[in-house]
Amino acid sequence: MKLDFFGYFPHICKNEIYLKIGIDNSDFYILFCNRIRTMNNVLNMYRTRIYKPTDKMSDLICENYALLQVLSRFGISLGFGDKNVREVCELNNVDCNTFLTVVNFLIEDSNRMEDHLEGISVSSLMNYLREAHSYFLDFQLPSIRKKLMEAIGDSKEKEVTFLILRFFDAYVDEVKKHMEHENENVFTYVEQLLRGEHPQGYNISVFASHHEHIDTKLTELKNIIIKYFPAGGNNRLLNATLFDIFSCEEDLASHNRVEDFLFVPAIKKLEKEAK
Ligand SMILES: [Fe+2]
Ligand SMILES: [Fe+2]
Repeated sequence: MKLDFFGYFPHICKNEIYLKIGIDNSDFYILFCNRIRTMNNVLNMYRTRIYKPTDKMSDLICENYALLQVLSRFGISLGFGDKNVREVCELNNVDCNTFLTVVNFLIEDSNRMEDHLEGISVSSLMNYLREAHSYFLDFQLPSIRKKLMEAIGDSKEKEVTFLILRFFDAYVDEVKKHMEHENENVFTYVEQLLRGEHPQGYNISVFASHHEHIDTKLTELKNIIIKYFPAGGNNRLLNATLFDIFSCEEDLASHNRVEDFLFVPAIKKLEKEAK
């Protein structure tokens, strides 16, 4: 008997999901889930896996490649072989608990923070956020601008391309102001708290109430390019740039989530303890 399995792609028919297999050159469909919702629940179960210090670091990255950014912002280099999360963190002088807190928070759907704050290192989390700022300002946004320039270089409609670049530059200025404020004012305040000082006239709720979501304007830029970009540019490069913008938008939204739901509550806790 010859058995062939035709891959993971499910065949969906009337809300039922089948997997296709071949036996002796005939095709058979096996009922896998009787409701699409059941399939979604399976995927949700997978997504809510909680990583532990004893898990292999390579598994964590292979299962969620977006976590590569987290790794690099904690200063962890690749090439860790089969070492587990705790061993890799120790080798790189990274607080393992804070690293796993960020990882588990980012891969789950909800913004519950009460499970996450225990044992977190505020200075480690702050360094992570600082590195993220540097990544966006010194690498990701300049690289998107460079690609955008190349992609639109040959377009005849100079006015539209000029407006797109002007919009992008205005957006980068906003992000820069936002992140510089966090680096210079908010983080300086937190460093004072960590040194046991009690700065007057400021608390983290002031920051939290004015904290804007800087990914929104990038969504607008993406829509302008998709809807109005004139023909004649380099389409392959333009698509690649759009992919970068999509990924930067998600990355910025995750960055905001960490600030709103991990960083701010952690600082509120620190403020309470300092009183
Ligand atoms: Fe930030
Ligand atoms: Fe922010």
